[in-house]
This record gives sequence, structure tokens and C-alpha cells, in this order.
Amino acid sequence: MGYIDIHAHIVPGVDDGSKDNRESVEMLRQAYAAGITTVIATPHYSKGFQAYTTEDIKRYCRALEKHAQKNISPEFKVYAGQEIFYNERSLEMIQSGEVIALADSNYILLEFMPGITYSSLFQALREVAMTSYFPVLAHVERYECLREEDTMEELKALGVMLQMNYAHIAGKWYDADTKWCRKMLKENYIDVLGTDMHNSKDRGPRVDAAMEWMRKHLDEEYLEQITTLNAQAILGFDNKKEEQDERE
Ligand SMILES: [Fe+2]
Repeated sequence: MGYIDIHAHIVPGVDDGSKDNRESVEMLRQAYAAGITTVIATPHYSKGFQAYTTEDIKRYCRALEKHAQKNISPEFKVYAGQEIFYNERSLEMIQSGEVIALADSNYILLEFMPGITYSSLFQALREVAMTSYFPVLAHVERYECLREEDTMEELKALGVMLQMNYAHIAGKWYDADTKWCRKMLKENYIDVLGTDMHNSKDRGPRVDAAMEWMRKHLDEEYLEQITTLNAQAILGFDNKKEEQDERE
């Protein structure tokens, strides 16, 4: 089985990602060439795109999967999800099913303003963690407040799944973001990687160079966890949360 990408803007015309069907297919082709065989589509959830229902997104993902299985590889899987920009209504939307969880599991991909304070971020994630859903924090490298010591540790203790984009891992060694990403990976803070691909040109999957660095510097077992196994737990619709709730 190949890598699983849990963060990708491959549904055309619904956000700032893929423009059309051709581009979506090309993005999947590039992802496959980089070793990815499963993609969860995560268009931004926005009020501005009300013309598209969650059913439209799911229907498109099924069609895209069919196309990919026929033209790229029979093992290719495409699931639907959404990247939810957190606000005061998010909790209600998540619980009412107004937004799509990752592959209809109990994991929700969330994003916040890059400049959010740590206390606001912590509070929001705690609210979600207290529901029957697991929060997955999108592109952890984007939040300034997580550069402070102990913050990543605290979020992990809260049960937040920490997602990092492949892109910065392969930056210049002196780049501050790249340095931080590599440190977090070496210390095993990251749970899952994603491409956050938006198009087939300057924001494609960008996996190869990151993999090259990771193969050299991370142990094989951990690399398998963050590229494949932890995302498999999402796709497995695992019942950890219910079991955990029952124990409490
Ligand atoms: Fe994204």
C-alpha cells in the first residue's frame, strides 16, 4: 500500500484549489508518481461556496476515484473530507454533520488563523476533543504560537492529531520553518503528513524532496506511521474515541 494523503484541494471549483477536472486528474497523477495511492479531498469549508453541497463533493470524489482507478492505478482511492476554518459555529456544524469529517470517520481536519494565540487554539481544540470527534490540526508549521516550548506536547496530550505539510520539510537547511519542521519530526511530534496540494504547478504534492530528507534522518518505522499507518487509522473508522469515552 502507498502513502495516504489526508489533506488535498483536488475538488475543482469549490475553493482555491484545482480549477477543473483535468487539473484534478493531473494532481492525482503527480501524487501517485510520488508514492501516494489514497487521497482524502479536503476543500476549504466556506460560506462563499454554498452552491456546493457535501453530497456534491462526495459525488465528485467517487467519480474522480473511478477515473483514477481506470487511468492511473486500480488501487487508487479517493475519499471526501473538508478543511474547516474554525469559528464559533464549527462545533455545531461538526456535530450536525453539516461539514464532512475525514472520509466520514470521527476525525475532523481543522485550520485556524496563523497568528492565533496559543490559549485560543488550545481552547478550540479542547472543545472539539470533548465531542465524539478527534481534531486533526492542519499544517502545524503555520502557527507561530506552536514555536513556543511545550505547546506541541500539550496538544498531543489533549489527543490532537498533528498534521504537517510535506513542502517545508525539504526547504533550505537555514530556513526557520524547515528547521522547525525537521526538529519536530526528529522528536516524533508529528502524527501525519499531508500534501495540501492546490494545483499541479507551484502547489503540487511536493513529496519527493521531503521523502529524501526523511529517509536519511528518521527511522523507518516512524516514517511509515506518519505517511501511512496513522492515516490508515482514520480510514479504518476506528472506534478509539468510543472506547475511550466508555472507560471514562
Ligand atoms: Fe489546506
